[in-house]
Amino acid sequence: MPVSLMDVKNLSGGYGDITVVKDVTLAVEKGEVVCLAGRNGVGKTTLLKLLSGALPITKGSISLSGSDVSRCNAFERQQKHITHGLQEQTVFSGLSVYDNLSLTGMWGDNPISKRLVEAFPIIERRYKVLAGKLSGGERKLVSFCRAIAEGGLITLLDEPTEGVQPENIQKMGDIIIEQARAGHSFIVAEQNLTLIEPIASACWVIDHGELISRYPASPTLRESIVKELVI
Ligand SMILES: Nc1ncnc2c1ncn2[C@@H]1O[C@H](COP(=O)(O)OP(=O)(O)O)[C@@H](O)[C@H]1O
Ligand SMILES: [Mg+2]
Repeated sequence: MPVSLMDVKNLSGGYGDITVVKDVTLAVEKGEVVCLAGRNGVGKTTLLKLLSGALPITKGSISLSGSDVSRCNAFERQQKHITHGLQEQTVFSGLSVYDNLSLTGMWGDNPISKRLVEAFPIIERRYKVLAGKLSGGERKLVSFCRAIAEGGLITLLDEPTEGVQPENIQKMGDIIIEQARAGHSFIVAEQNLTLIEPIASACWVIDHGELISRYPASPTLRESIVKELVI
């Protein structure tokens, strides 16, 4: 049987004794962009942290290309090419934009960094500025560029468009699609349906820490999600 790129079985976890994510089972294939929708506080960020190792799991398993990574810490999972773009604390405020981008050693004279600079020229203009001086949206953009340039097998993006200007949101979507076509997979937790709609191969809806619905990409995707989130 072919193995999925990421295979998660009966995953639970949270903060100390508080279980937030409950019994989540999911699979992500190579080149898939799965969007994770859900109201505030339902567990999207917690789920991504369990997948990247930022939080320990209490039950279940996570496999990457068939090998179990459940016991690997966050650093080890990053070495195995699970990339995590956080919702908050996206940049190191005391470092310049360039140094923030260079933290993973993947930023520089390569096609993906050039593509990102071409899409977001403001990034290059801000290279020498301390990241702490940027607006929230600019920080998100720096964090997005760093995550994309890392070129993970699977990239977890947590609310990447928060505070980002609309024209840049569309470009983020274009870049995610290009990267997916090149074989990279994504899980994108996002409230902004304008980003989700054109990029999603599938959309999962999470509520009270459980995956309650899964929708394939379709012309009625937005409608289905809105209905689910409003009820
Ligand atoms: N550090 C924490 N300690 C305890 N509970 C937390 C912590 N962070 C988040 N939570 C709780 O976990 C639940 C899910 O939060 P979160 O995963 O951030 O949701 P979402 O990303 O969907 O908005 C919420 O009830 C939130 O209050
Ligand atoms: Mg969140």
